[in-house]
Amino acid sequence: MEKNLVLCRSKYGSAQRYADMLREEYSCDVEDAKNCKRIDFSSYDTVILVGGVYAGAIAGMKNLKNSFHALTGKRVAVFCVGASPYDPENIEHLKKNNLTGPLADIPIFYGRGAWDESRMSFSDRAMCWIFKKLAVHLNDTSCEPWLKELVMSPDKKYDWVERKNLMPLLNFLHETKP
Ligand SMILES: Cc1cc2nc3c(=O)[nH]c(=O)nc-3n(C[C@H](O)[C@H](O)[C@H](O)COP(=O)(O)O)c2cc1C
Repeated sequence: MEKNLVLCRSKYGSAQRYADMLREEYSCDVEDAKNCKRIDFSSYDTVILVGGVYAGAIAGMKNLKNSFHALTGKRVAVFCVGASPYDPENIEHLKKNNLTGPLADIPIFYGRGAWDESRMSFSDRAMCWIFKKLAVHLNDTSCEPWLKELVMSPDKKYDWVERKNLMPLLNFLHETKP
């Protein structure tokens, strides 16, 4: 029987929620991506990284890259979780910047996460404050969509996590063989 592994990196819980939903929908083991060194990849057919996006970087990507030698011949996919609304261009951009070198051919999927500044660490809140200050001075095309939205309604909490956002990844898993 096919064995699937989800590697997850989540600071504030949305990527973890998607990883848990994936486990319910597609029978996977779920591990923190930071434990990669201790994982025996040889027993898995499929490895999926589910990671939050922070300042354009997909969390867990470094762990995946370091384990790449163990992933040869396996089906590998990345599901990233950000505050941006779904936008194929933005996803392409994330792919180009994060899936480099030997990872360039890995398919990437996207689910919108959550936003709650009251739960952020001091340094993340400070970073987001700087992003938002900068965003006010950017023109429409150079300001990222998630920042635009947050600048417009700065103190709100958002939760955009929805099971249906996993559908494209689930279709890929059902339609391809490891
Ligand atoms: C410091 C920081 C930087 C972020 N940068 C981005 C970003 O570049 N693009 C984006 O779409 N969302 C960004 N976000 C929003 C997160 O991706 C979003 O809150 C996501 O749900 C985080 O996943 P998590 O809940 O698993 O930690 C950022 C959030 C923080 C705290």
